Amino acid sequence: MPGAPIHTPSDALVFFGATGDLARKSIFPALYRMARSGALTVPVVGVAHSDWTLADLQQRARESVESSGDCEKDPEALETLLGLLRYVDGDYKDPATFAKLREELGDATTPTHYLAIPPSLFGTVIDALAEVGLNENGRVVVEKPFGRDLASAQALAADVGRAFDEHAVFRIDHFLGKDEIMNLLYFRFANSIFEPIWNRDHISSVQVTFSEDFGVDGRESFYESAGALRDVIENHLFQIVALLTMEAPAYQGYGAVQAAKAAVFKAMRPLKREDLVRGQFEGYRDHSNVAPDSDVETFAAVRLFIDSWRWADVPFYLRTGKLLPSKSGEVVVEFKRPPQALFDDAVSPDHHPNRLTFRLSPHPEIGLAVRVKTPGAEFTGDAHELTLQVDATEERLPYERLLTDALEGDGSLFTAEDSVEAAWRVVDDVLTDHDPAVPYAPGTWGPTAHADALIGDDGPWNNPPTGKATR
Ligand code: BG6
Repeated sequence: MPGAPIHTPSDALVFFGATGDLARKSIFPALYRMARSGALTVPVVGVAHSDWTLADLQQRARESVESSGDCEKDPEALETLLGLLRYVDGDYKDPATFAKLREELGDATTPTHYLAIPPSLFGTVIDALAEVGLNENGRVVVEKPFGRDLASAQALAADVGRAFDEHAVFRIDHFLGKDEIMNLLYFRFANSIFEPIWNRDHISSVQVTFSEDFGVDGRESFYESAGALRDVIENHLFQIVALLTMEAPAYQGYGAVQAAKAAVFKAMRPLKREDLVRGQFEGYRDHSNVAPDSDVETFAAVRLFIDSWRWADVPFYLRTGKLLPSKSGEVVVEFKRPPQALFDDAVSPDHHPNRLTFRLSPHPEIGLAVRVKTPGAEFTGDAHELTLQVDATEERLPYERLLTDALEGDGSLFTAEDSVEAAWRVVDDVLTDHDPAVPYAPGTWGPTAHADALIGDDGPWNNPPTGKATR
C-alpha cells in the first residue's frame, strides 16, 4: 500500500482549496510563520478551481499574512513564502488538472497533499491523485469534519484507504495543535501529585466550556449541515476530554498516545436524547443560506460518561455555542468534598469544593481553588485560587505546528481512524434523535433553563468571565 514511510520529510506541499476561506484565515499565516522559522523550504503548490493565476494566489497570500498582523516581524519571510508558491487551476473532476499538478511537482517524490476542501470532494481528489501516481510515497492531510456521522466517516475512510495507508493519513483537529491543549497531556503526566487523585474516588464532575461571542457569518451553508454538536463537541471537546482522562501512554511515542486516547473514545457511553440540550440563537434563521425553519443548533450542552474503571459514574458536562457572552475555553475539574463536615461552613451553599481549572483561552491559566480559614475566632473559611499564568507569547499557531509535523511525517498530534469512528459512535443516535433546538437570546449562556436542568445538582455551570479579556 502506498504512502510515504513514517518520518520521511516531504519535498512538496500540495494545497487543495488554496483560494478558500480556511486558507485565507489560517493557512497562509501559518505558512508564513513556517517560512520565517525555516520549517518551510519546499514548493507549495496551490490547487483550486477559481480561474486564478499564480499572481492572484500570491496577492491573496500577501493580504492574508498582512492582515494577520504578523508580517512586520520579518517581511523577507513573506517574500520567501511567495517565492515558494506555485498554482494549478482546474476542476477536481478533470484528469487534466492532476496531469498539470504532476508536471508542476517536477522531481518531487514525497509530496504532502493537504485537502482544505469540503469532505464531499475528498473521494474525487484522492482517486485522481492515485490515477497519476501521486499517492505513491505521498501523504494526505484531511481537515475535520471527518464525515458527518458514523456511516459517512466509514465511507470517507474507505475512500482515503483506497490510495493511502493509515500511517500516511494525517487527520487535522487543529485544537490538538494548540499549546494550551497539549499542556493538558503534559500537565497530567509531567506532575506526579495529581495522578493518585485523578479518578472517580476524588473527582465529582468535570465541565468543559468552549464559548464564542460571534455567530456564523459567512459560514451559514457549512453550519446548516453541521451544527454545534458536529462542529465542536464531537471533535474538539471530545479530544480535550480524551487528554484529560486517558491512561498514561505506555511509552514515549505517537502510537502510545493514540492508543490511550482511542481507549477513552471507545469507553464513552453513547449519548441518549436526555443527555443533550440544543439551542439556536434568535435571528439565526434570518441569515441568507439558512432554512427559514432550520432546527440546526448553534448551542449544545451534553452530559457524558466514560464507562471505564477510572471514570465510572463521573459526569462530564460539555458546552459550546455561538453568540454567547464571551470567547473562552475552560475546563473545570471539581473534587469531592471532605468525607466529614468538621467545620460550620461545610453545609453552607457557598462552600465550594476544591477545583482545578484549566483556562485555555483567551489567556492560558491554571487555577487551583482551595479553602483557607478566615482570620478570627470561627472555624470558617473561603475558597482562594492559586493561579498560574502561562506565558503564551512564543506560542506557535496551531496550523504552523500541525503542517510542520505533517511535512516531517510526525503523526503524534493527528487523529487516528479508530478514534474518529469511536467518537462518531458516541453521538450517532442523537444526531437524529433529539429534542428541537430551544431559542436563546444572543449574548446569553444559551437556553439556560434547559442547560441548568441538564447539569442539575452537579451545577451550577461555571461561566467564564465576560467582556473583553485583557491582562
Ligand atoms: C472550528 C469550527 O473547527 O473551530 C468553528 O468549525 C470554531 O466553528 C473554531 O469557531 C474554533 O477554533 P479557534 O481555534 O478559532 O478557537
